[in-house]
Amino acid sequence: MTTKSFDVVVIGGGPGGYIAAIRAAQLGFNVACIDEWKNEKGGPAPGGTCTNVGCIPSKALLQSSEHYEHAARHFAEHGIGLKDLSIDVATMVGRKNTVVKQNNDGILYLFKKNKVAFFHGRGSFVKAVEGGGYEIAVGGETLQARQVIVATGSNPRPLPGVPFDEELVLSNDGALRIGAVPKTLGLIGSGVIGLEMGSVWRRLGAQVTVLEALPGFLPMADEQIAKEALKAFNKQGLKIEFGVKVGEVKAGKKGVSVAWTDAKGQAQTLEVDRLIVSIGRVPNTTGLNAEAVGLKLDERGAIVVDADCRTNLAGVWAVGDVVRGPMLAHKAEEEGVAVAERIAGQHGHVNFDTIPFVIYTSPEVAWVGKTEQALKAEGRAYKAGTFPFLANGRARALGDTTGMVKFLADAKTDEILGVHIVGPQASELISEAVVAMEFKASAEDIARICHAHPSLSEATKEAALAVDKRTLNF
Ligand code: FAD
Ligand code: NAI
Repeated sequence: MTTKSFDVVVIGGGPGGYIAAIRAAQLGFNVACIDEWKNEKGGPAPGGTCTNVGCIPSKALLQSSEHYEHAARHFAEHGIGLKDLSIDVATMVGRKNTVVKQNNDGILYLFKKNKVAFFHGRGSFVKAVEGGGYEIAVGGETLQARQVIVATGSNPRPLPGVPFDEELVLSNDGALRIGAVPKTLGLIGSGVIGLEMGSVWRRLGAQVTVLEALPGFLPMADEQIAKEALKAFNKQGLKIEFGVKVGEVKAGKKGVSVAWTDAKGQAQTLEVDRLIVSIGRVPNTTGLNAEAVGLKLDERGAIVVDADCRTNLAGVWAVGDVVRGPMLAHKAEEEGVAVAERIAGQHGHVNFDTIPFVIYTSPEVAWVGKTEQALKAEGRAYKAGTFPFLANGRARALGDTTGMVKFLADAKTDEILGVHIVGPQASELISEAVVAMEFKASAEDIARICHAHPSLSEATKEAALAVDKRTLNF
């Protein structure tokens, strides 16, 4: 068996891995990327969780279900009449599959364009090579490289003793390929997946109940924004029970029965056609054979890395969901780029303080930087300014006036410390705040910049003006 030599081998072709491979190739290295994801025909499907069962397919279904909801509830306001509105779930899911395939093919094309050698299969450490570097087995082949980037991602966390069957008890994977709108849908966990997947199936007519262990909603978001978002979700009919303890889960022929205890300690039962369990994800190192080389994992199973994504082994790096930090595709990508640049002797850098968070519900929720409760806990003096979309002309024209933009700025220097948005296009609006914070802008800087009229971004400018109590349109 021959050994193929590379400068850099990347294990995992999700957003962390494939972006690291492309960046390393751009920097002149001879690069291989190994990914084991299979499409339904058994062929390669690079892009990882994000492309296959995460970011991309969930947004495709969110888009389809949003069109349906607009047609059902809002077209009439525009004078548009519709008869016999219906949803063909098979077509909707088929479209989603096409979008996924376009992304898989796009990544294979990018590998070719950048001369990254792609290996389809599971990559496993074999041994450290004398004099530096590592041997990695994939299929029947052996690859060797001095630098290895591990980007093996994460898996959904099941409830203890309740494995996913992907028919009745669903992870994010099964939740994205339900064949018909369930009459009743249960979700365990009101985190990001719970809200996004709950929204998709609620919009299409399912009666959705979410059981959440914590007493409050979205604790990582700004409290005022989370409160406003919850109000909107409740109004839409998304029912969330807080402070619950989930007990026995039984999947039968007709559906799933969940025994749970409510916040007052009362025993309850939830009977649903399908159950989505979205209680977080766990780092994935299955089959990596980390033990063979002594790669250190923590008690959660995450690969231990320093701030620069260096592991305990010389020349082995790890990025994305398999290491500490938020499990977000753009965080994985930034780490991948930074590691490739560090291997090339450059100063790759990821600013963890300006990573944006987005929940693609309607209204969307997005934020960057510190929340008001975090600033209070730190004892930092701050000023806050908010502006409601209700007072924004473009939002009124769109017929989507829920929510607000909120700025938090240092009381003395006026530096922007956090921006929080609940409302239309929050996912796009947050970019301005990210750029501003990267450049250490003040709220006044944003307030003095000309924003197009009419646009939702004027709400951002007005919220910045509100920090100084001088909004013009409210
Ligand atoms: P992954 O994307 O998990 O990729 C890891 C890859 O490595 C996989 O292809 C896997 O098969 C492969 N692999 C693992 N072990 C091996 C091995 N030994 N050999 C070969 N290959 C291996 N994030 C966002 O930022 N925005 C969103 O809108 C968003 N939506 C999401 C929606 C859902 C439903 C889910 C579940 C997640 C979502 N995420 C979102 C999170 C995002 O998908 C992850 O943060 C991101 O995919 C992590 O990238 P990664 O490269 O670290 O790992
Ligand atoms: P999550 O961490 O967002 O939310 C999990 C929720 O489940 C929490 O509210 C938690 O309190 C609750 N929970 C945990 N155990 C429970 C139990 N036994 N009973 C009831 N509730 C319980 O995790 P989720 O939604 O599974 O998503 C995983 C990750 O995927 C996210 O953290 C995020 O990083 C990523 N993601 C990102 C998206 C985006 O950026 N738009 C979209 C979807 C996922």
